[in-house]
Amino acid sequence: MSPQARIQELTETLKQHNYRYYVLADPIISDFEFDQLLQELEALEAKHPELQQPDSPTLRVGGELSKEFPNFTHIRPMLSLGNSYSREDLEDFDQSVAKLTGGTPFSYLLEHKFDGVSLSLHYENGLLVRAVTRGDGVKGDEITANARTIRTVPLRLMGEGHPANLEVRGEVLMMVEDFYALNRKRVAAGESPFMNPRNTTAGTLKMQDSSIVAQRPLVFFAYSLLTEEEVAATDAEQLALLKTWGFRLSGSDTVCKTLAEVWTYLDKWEIGRTQLPYEIDGIVLKVNELRLRDELGTTSKFPRWAMAYKYKAEGAISKLLSVDYQVGRTGKITPVANLEPVLLAGTTVKRASVHNADEIERLGLHYDDVVAVEKGGEIIPKITHVLKDKRVANSSPVLFITHCPECSTELIRPEGEVNHFCPNETGCPPQIKGRIRHFASRNALDIDGLGIEIVNQLVDEGLIHTYADLYDLTYDQLIALERFADLSAKNLLTGIEASKEQPFERMLFGLGIRYVGATVAKKLARYYKSMEALTSATREELEAVPDIGGRIAESLVDFLEKPGSREVLQRLERAGLQLSTKEKSTTPNRLNGKSFVISGVFSEFSRNEIKKLVEDYGGEVKSSLSSKTHFLLAGDKAGPSKLDKAASLGITVIDEPAFLKMISE
Ligand code: IVH
Repeated sequence: MSPQARIQELTETLKQHNYRYYVLADPIISDFEFDQLLQELEALEAKHPELQQPDSPTLRVGGELSKEFPNFTHIRPMLSLGNSYSREDLEDFDQSVAKLTGGTPFSYLLEHKFDGVSLSLHYENGLLVRAVTRGDGVKGDEITANARTIRTVPLRLMGEGHPANLEVRGEVLMMVEDFYALNRKRVAAGESPFMNPRNTTAGTLKMQDSSIVAQRPLVFFAYSLLTEEEVAATDAEQLALLKTWGFRLSGSDTVCKTLAEVWTYLDKWEIGRTQLPYEIDGIVLKVNELRLRDELGTTSKFPRWAMAYKYKAEGAISKLLSVDYQVGRTGKITPVANLEPVLLAGTTVKRASVHNADEIERLGLHYDDVVAVEKGGEIIPKITHVLKDKRVANSSPVLFITHCPECSTELIRPEGEVNHFCPNETGCPPQIKGRIRHFASRNALDIDGLGIEIVNQLVDEGLIHTYADLYDLTYDQLIALERFADLSAKNLLTGIEASKEQPFERMLFGLGIRYVGATVAKKLARYYKSMEALTSATREELEAVPDIGGRIAESLVDFLEKPGSREVLQRLERAGLQLSTKEKSTTPNRLNGKSFVISGVFSEFSRNEIKKLVEDYGGEVKSSLSSKTHFLLAGDKAGPSKLDKAASLGITVIDEPAFLKMISE
């Protein structure tokens, strides 16, 4: 079979499996088999980039970096919805619709109001050409590369009968279970958990690196179809069409002919919403007949044919028993309220977050207060207010602690910070343990056998104090400890030994420098290639590194200036850890600080290989040209519009031989 035919066949097959898996939730092959096919397609496309289909499933893995998102003016503004909180509001709405439509019979389409992020998808001749966020309703960000990674966004419409141009709107969200799983992974990797599914979804869609978006469990639920052509008479029919075109619907939609039916639906989900796999914040009521929608029209903000019914946030009343103060790895103090257990949204709540000192003050919190707790999108519920008229006489106000509950050091609150910190970094046990635990975590040095319990034990026994001490541990020391036997002691030592082979970027992440997460560590490691180069950079130089802002630069400088930091680094180096990237000698930093846009087909390398070369030599690859781009690396069939733009911006255009000369010189 020719490569062309095989590429087409694989594209088609993989698309079908994607659809079965993500939309129908009914896969017929194993993940392994799927990956095999995908890899075969990837390899073929790398060899023959010109044969890649515009809806290739390989586009879903992301990869292109985009610095800023271009703006796009919506073809039709993305309005919001009028809100109602009571049935009277809905009765009023119903009457105004009846009046404006002059007695024509009509029905409502009801559906969940998803608590996610709205997205508009544009299709031309069945192909996804653009994805735009709501933005301010008039203009949004074009985030097509990110949207492509969402498996429930069809890259090419299935079925038939789609108009040449159409727009599908819907909501991007994360299933609650997937969100929890993502957070568990983050915590295990020493990263801080996300607040709630909605904010995480919004943040994810705006990420510059679509390959990270691809790893986040986003789902798209379609809820409306917009087109110039008349393909259906009612919303319900449109939704049915969307389904045949490959979109995933929530399945919550129903048509109601009377308000009595509407009430039944509202009642059903008032209770049912707590059991849903995703979060909703109400119900949307829309006139089902499209012709009537046109007649009703819109105000400047809302359509007159739709209304949101919002459920009240689920709340409960409890009593404040005490406040605990937790000390994190960075010394941050987090107050947590202990409550009398109370049932809220299907779970028993015993604790609530109060964030920080300002929040305690805002609430005017006293011990034994009767408090209202609410479960928003967050994982832990929060105290929203105090029922002051229920306050017991002579109760004492909650005063934020002045000293660390773990080591008694006086707390500080740095200027401009809302949080208090324990400054005793090297002597405060939870900080010491947290740092070592982070160092050993999966995305850092990944030391087998060094879980929380063992770290606590080793620190409590006085055997280790910093992560550098791990490398001085001996078999005799371990075997003398409770809970250690011959095998576990040997396993731990083997795990520690193996961590010496972890690449520089992981070591850098493991140091636990504030704001230097896994992604930043990777960027710094690629840019500087060695700890030596990194530690001799000035604050200004650090800030000049792409994607490294002032906050990160300052934090790095702070870390290095701390007494003991440099000594710990020296000890790690002596122990044999990777304090530089391995390719150092073969790939010098020739392209440092230079940005490239790649276009066209190359003869010696695939596009991905070229991209990797640029990055290996310290350069950066961008997806679109701007005045800040240094080179357009143009192969065969480079896009004429890119060439024109490069010429108008005065950007140097180089070809493959010139590029190879550039890196080998
Ligand atoms: S229909 C006016 N249906 O709610 C546009 N919107 O407050 C009609 N939303 O930004 C929108 N679930 O993102 C519609 N089932 C649903 C929805 C829904 C959530 C969001 C939408 C919009 C916001 C308006």
